[in-house]
Amino acid sequence: MLLGVTGLSYCGESGPKKGDKVRLPEPRVSGNVSVEQALQQRRSCREFSTKPLDLEQVGRLLWSAQGITGDRGRRTTPSAGATYPLECYLVAGRVDSLKPGIYRYVPQEHSLVAVAAGDRRGALSVAASNQEFVARAPISIVIAADYGRTSMRYGDRGQRYVHIEVGHCAENIALECEALGLGTVCVGAFADDDVRSKLELTEDPVCIMPVGWKSE
Ligand SMILES: Cc1cc2nc3c(=O)[nH]c(=O)nc-3n(C[C@H](O)[C@H](O)[C@H](O)COP(=O)(O)O)c2cc1C
Repeated sequence: MLLGVTGLSYCGESGPKKGDKVRLPEPRVSGNVSVEQALQQRRSCREFSTKPLDLEQVGRLLWSAQGITGDRGRRTTPSAGATYPLECYLVAGRVDSLKPGIYRYVPQEHSLVAVAAGDRRGALSVAASNQEFVARAPISIVIAADYGRTSMRYGDRGQRYVHIEVGHCAENIALECEALGLGTVCVGAFADDDVRSKLELTEDPVCIMPVGWKSE
C-alpha cells in the first residue's frame, strides 16, 4: 500500500504494516547555510530535545545520504564502481505524521518502506553500549551495507571501499543536519548482531546517526 504525505495517519492507527510505503516530500536543494558554514559548525551532538522532527526534515536527511541525483541512478554519495552497497534505515520514534517503527529508505522512489512497527530507539540504545542519547534522539539513521555488492567486483578490496562509502554517507548526513539546524553524531560503538536482530536488518549495520534538535 502506498500512502501519501497528507493526512495524519500514514500507516494505520496500530502502526505500520511490513511493506507499507510512505512517500517523502520532494527534497529542497536550496537553503541558508553554505557548505563552508556547515563544515565550520559541525560538532558531534549528544544532547537532543524531545521536540519531534517532521517528514520534510527526514526526507532531506535521507536524500543527503542516498538520494538519486543523476542519470543511471547516480546518488548524493559516491560509490566504488557505482555498486551501491548501502541501505539506510530510519529508526523513527518522534516524527510528526509518521508512526514509530523501522523503515528502509528507497532512493529510487524517495520513499520509506516499513520493516517493523514500534519504537525501537530504546533497544537500539542498549545495543549501542547503552549510549542513552540514542534513545532520546527522535530518530536514528542506520547505515547498513551489503558487502557482496562491492566485493563481487573488487574482491577483498571491496570491504575497504564500502567503509569509505559509509564515511561519505555519514558526513553528508552530518552536513545536512547543520543545514537544517539539527544535531547528530556518528556512533560506531554497538554490537552488530544485536542491532541487526533488533532492527530486523538484512544487511550489516556499520554506522548509527542519531538526529534531533540540539538541546539548549
Ligand atoms: C568512526 C567513528 C565512530 C564514533 N563512535 C562514536 C560513538 O560510538 N559514540 C560517540 O558518542 N561518539 C562517537 N564518535 C564521535 C567522536 O567521538 C567525535 O567525532 C570526536 O570526539 C570528535 O568530535 P567532533 O565530532 O565534535 O569534532 C565516532 C566518530 C567516528 C568517526
